[in-house]
Formats: sequence, C-alpha cells, structure tokens
Amino acid sequence: MFARLIGTGSYLPGNPVTNDDLAARGIDTNDEWIVTRTGIRSRHLAAPGTTSSELGLIAAQRALEMSGISAADLDLIIVATSTPDFIFPSTACLIQANLGNKGAAAFDVQAVCAGFTYALGIAEKFIRSGSHKRALVVGAEVFSRILDWNDRGTCVLFGDGAGAVVLEASDKPGVLATAMHADGSQNGILNVPGQICGGQVTGDPFLRMDGQSVFKFAVRVLADIAEEVCQIAGIQTGEVDWLIPHQANIRIIDATGKKLGIDRNKVIVTVDRHGNTSAASVPLALDEAVRDGRIQRGQKVLVEGVGGGFTWGAALLEF
Ligand code: UT7
Repeated sequence: MFARLIGTGSYLPGNPVTNDDLAARGIDTNDEWIVTRTGIRSRHLAAPGTTSSELGLIAAQRALEMSGISAADLDLIIVATSTPDFIFPSTACLIQANLGNKGAAAFDVQAVCAGFTYALGIAEKFIRSGSHKRALVVGAEVFSRILDWNDRGTCVLFGDGAGAVVLEASDKPGVLATAMHADGSQNGILNVPGQICGGQVTGDPFLRMDGQSVFKFAVRVLADIAEEVCQIAGIQTGEVDWLIPHQANIRIIDATGKKLGIDRNKVIVTVDRHGNTSAASVPLALDEAVRDGRIQRGQKVLVEGVGGGFTWGAALLEF
C-alpha cells in the first residue's frame, strides 16, 4: 500500500512585488543586493485582511480539481502553517468548513519552513496504516504579517502563498520514503519570540533571524536528509529526476544541489519569483513543475524543507 499523489494546486495573492518596489516603499535596500545574496527578484504579498485559510482554500480547490475527487471524499486534512488565521480553531478546520467537508480529521502542523514536508510525512503514515484513504495536505502562509518592515535583513526575503496536494491510498508506487528531524537547541537562530497574554502581545511578534547561522545549518541538513530518504528507498541521489528544495535562497539551493551531485537543470527553482513562502514554498514549486509538464508520471521527485525550530524534513515521491 502506497500513498500516491493524485493532484497538486497552488495560489499566489496579488501582483508580484519587485525588489525595486520594496526600495520605492522606503526600505533601505536595492535590487542588486537582494538578487546577488538571495536570487530573489519578486514576491507576492497578500492584501491586508487576507488570511492563510483563504490562500490555502484556493490551492486546495485546484488540487482537488486535478485529482478528480470531491472535498466530501477526503478523510484527512492537514495544514502546515506558522501564520494561522487564529490561535484556534486550526486553519485546517477553517479550510475544511469552506470546502464543505464534514467528518475528516483536520489539524495544523507547526514546523515552519519544513512544515509541508512534515505534513506530507504524517499524511503518508496515516494512509499506509490503512486508517485513512484520501488526504489533503496544504502549506499556506501570510508571512508578510510577521515581518518587521524596518529590518531589511529579513523583510526582503519572504512572500505569501499556498500550495496543496491530494494523496490517495494506492497499490501503485507513490511516496517512497519520508524523514523528519528537529534540533530544538537551535531555536534562537530563527524565531518569532512573541505571544498573546492577557489580551496583549508580549515579547517580540516579528521574525528574527541570524542569517549566516541559518544558511550554514540549512545547507548541511538539506544535503543529509536528501541522502537519507534516497537510502531508505534504495536509490542513489543521482537517480532523482527532480529536486525541489525549500525555496529560501538560491545560494542555499545551489550549494545543496552541488553537495548531492544533482545537476542544476534537475532542480526546480521558484525563489526568484516567490521569495521564501515558508511552508508553502515546496508545494508551490511542485505544482508549478507538474502543471508546466516538467514532472512526468514515473519520475522520482525529492522534496525537502528546513526551517525554524530547527526542523527539517524530506520525501521521495514517485509520480
Ligand atoms: O527558511 C529559512 C529562512 N532563512 C534563510 O534561508 C536565510 C539564510 N541566510 C541568508 O540567506 C543570508 O544570510 C542573508 C541573505 C539573510 C544575508 O546575507 P549575508 O551574506 O549573510 O549578509 P549579512 O547579513 O552578513 O549582511 C551583509 C551586509 C550588511 O552590511 P554591512 O554590515 O556589511 O555594512 C547588512 O547590513 O548587507 C547588509 N544588508 C543589506 N543591504 C541591502 C542586509 N540586508 C540588506 C538588504 N539590502 N536587504
């Protein structure tokens, strides 16, 4: 029994916001710095009031449409997000309600930029166990809400968006291997150290990051976990048809591909147009490559994420 991907979908809000647009809004930055250090040229930012569940709903509807099943057929809905609409109910329950599904198990996963790979791994285990048959897995973020727009070292890096996949129990190959890890001792290098207490925000409600420590950590664990899932599935990294790493920085993506010996033309890149959309980055890139025909049936696709916590996860998929 496999969990097989039968549909993908994604959604980006509004028009692209370029690096020059950010500079024009008064941020002390420039296109040359952002492109050279990160590869990012533009990102999408949700309009005030637009929520993760709204972005995730559209991505989910598109994934369901491709899969040919209806929302009522789902028995599991998992949403990866660090920017939920509310403290509770979960964003998964809100998407469930708006899809018109009743009765599926629905919950959120909080593993920041590794969130989608965690959610995918969890859904795969539910399906392989035989307890559930059809799962919707969504990564949705409005990261622009937790950015300090006076901190040029972070605010230029992120964007908003959502991606989704539908998984179904199948005797044909699907998810071949998954892995998830965390090292909570690294919580200080990337975090939003604020909370709501007694009706007030206490602490710091903005994303804070030690960029260079995150960079080094990300390259190491993205290479390690890619090798781990290939080893579980009994293949060499060179046999992977497509690598979809977390889209945070082109230099991290290139360093990871190089370490793994995977050619640049086998790596899906969207960071130039999406920025870092956290839990949405991997399913957004996956959907783009499925819809433009690069990813074909029978191919092996390795998806991987890394983010605050620190958390990292990966899955090897056969399409
Ligand atoms: O999901 C994981 C999320 N995070 C990441 O993946 C981030 C990983 N880290 C990185 O991508 C890089 O560390 C950054 C892109 C964030 C920063 O690149 P860096 O090469 O590590 O630059 P830096 O932080 O050492 O800053 C170098 C200079 C500084 O100026 P001085 O002190 O040398 O005069 C910064 O003030 O660049 C300056 N700077 C900027 N200049 C123009 C920082 N941000 C900007 C900016 N525009 N937006």
